[in-house]
Amino acid sequence: MKHFVWLLFFPGFLCNLNPRNRNPLTIRPDSLVTWEGSCVLIPCEIGRYGGAVLNPITLLWYFQPFYDMRQSEYNGVLLYNSSMASGYSNTHLRDSQDRVKFVGNLNHAERKTCSLKISQVRTEDNGIYGARLFASYSRPTQQHKWFLNATIHVAESPPAPIMDVSPTYIRESLVRVTCSVTYHCPDDPLRVVIGLEKNHLPSQRMTTINGVIKTVVSFRVTWEDHRKNLFCSLERQDRSEISKSTKQLDVNYAPKGVQLIALPGTTIQEGQALSLECTIKSSNPEVYEYCWYKDLQLMYGCQNQSKIEFEAKGDQHSGVYTCEAKNSVGSQKSEELHIDVQSHSQDTSTHSASESKPTAHDASAGASDSRGDPAGPSCSSSEEDSEEDSEALEKLLLNTCKELTSAVVELTEQLRKARSQIKILRQRTCVSLGK
Ligand SMILES: *[C@@H]1O[C@H](CO)[C@@H](O)[C@H](O)[C@H]1NC(C)=O
Ligand SMILES: *[C@@H]1O[C@H](CO)[C@@H](O)[C@H](O)[C@H]1NC(C)=O
Ligand SMILES: *[C@@H]1O[C@H](CO)[C@@H](O)[C@H](O)[C@H]1NC(C)=O
Repeated sequence: MKHFVWLLFFPGFLCNLNPRNRNPLTIRPDSLVTWEGSCVLIPCEIGRYGGAVLNPITLLWYFQPFYDMRQSEYNGVLLYNSSMASGYSNTHLRDSQDRVKFVGNLNHAERKTCSLKISQVRTEDNGIYGARLFASYSRPTQQHKWFLNATIHVAESPPAPIMDVSPTYIRESLVRVTCSVTYHCPDDPLRVVIGLEKNHLPSQRMTTINGVIKTVVSFRVTWEDHRKNLFCSLERQDRSEISKSTKQLDVNYAPKGVQLIALPGTTIQEGQALSLECTIKSSNPEVYEYCWYKDLQLMYGCQNQSKIEFEAKGDQHSGVYTCEAKNSVGSQKSEELHIDVQSHSQDTSTHSASESKPTAHDASAGASDSRGDPAGPSCSSSEEDSEEDSEALEKLLLNTCKELTSAVVELTEQLRKARSQIKILRQRTCVSLGK
């Protein structure tokens, strides 16, 4: 199968090698762009034909050529005739004698060139330019002729360099910028420079191949370059600007500067409303969801709201919180935030002293108010108090006193014993330490 395919193409390949089907003329590039006031050079070469150097040759350049059927020959506005002593015809192109110049070399033994240059280009120079070649080979008597044309596009003003940024989807990584402009005027060499905002980027490489000035630069973009302007500038050697193209950088990056903020604060009382807000400094594209973590566990899932609110409950809500902002590029977490919800049980322990005061005050106030209350405690020595009551009271006091006395005696005895024990122990330690 492979061989069969080869056979199909082989005859064609041979035909291309056939000298009779080849044109010794080459114009590359054959579509040229220039602008008013600039110049343009049509790069033309005459190669070997059937392995032989063509000699002698005659070359004609026409503007807007056409094939004249009656004369069986090309015709048009003759710009150059190498057979004429001066080379130039009585031109029909206004003032073209000064502006149109043959810059080829037909006498070179090997590398014959046939380039044509037009200076101070005008809009009327826009059009087709044809090269007509007459030459002899093998036998001097046998004349051969070939034709080839080129197109010149004259723009009113210099074109802006074509800027290509790759990759097209930019992240915080290496980006390659290529700026090119087609230019075919060797008299006034230009350059293309690439910059970001107002500064030229370092390490630019410029080449000029086939009439294309191309500058390439690679640089690392950061999220801070987002929305900055890249520019390509076509400049003269003196750095004066001819044209410029700009492009705003669209850098995609994960959210930056994620912060968790608690309102009214990180220490709150139970039952108070707690509001947590996840703020970001920057993100491109926009954040699509916020995830909430408490003690490293995903809490309340992920939502597209940057704020959550709830009524704080001590055990449930005290802890370490973080939030995470996500966009299509990636995510970033905030620093940890410690939230302390002070519960009511903690409240009573800390506030018991102050709270007991009003209670005591209330009780005494109640006593003074409720004189007629039979159940209320009464300490006044009213005459209605019975003898029996006082006797019982006396007995109680006496008993208590007795119990207390014996307890004191007991304690004193124990204290004495302990003291003597300590004394003995001290002496022993002193002896053992040799003092
Ligand atoms: C070119 O110049 C030669 C010599 O003057 C002349 O014989 C010939 O006709 C000219 N060709 C054209 C196309 O004018
Ligand atoms: C110029 O060349 C192109 C491509 O070879 C051809 O199509 C066109 O007809 C030519 N123009 C003239 C005037 O010969
Ligand atoms: C957030 O979610 C709601 C409901 O799910 C939706 O209507 C809204 O468009 C979302 N907003 C964003 C910015 O994604």
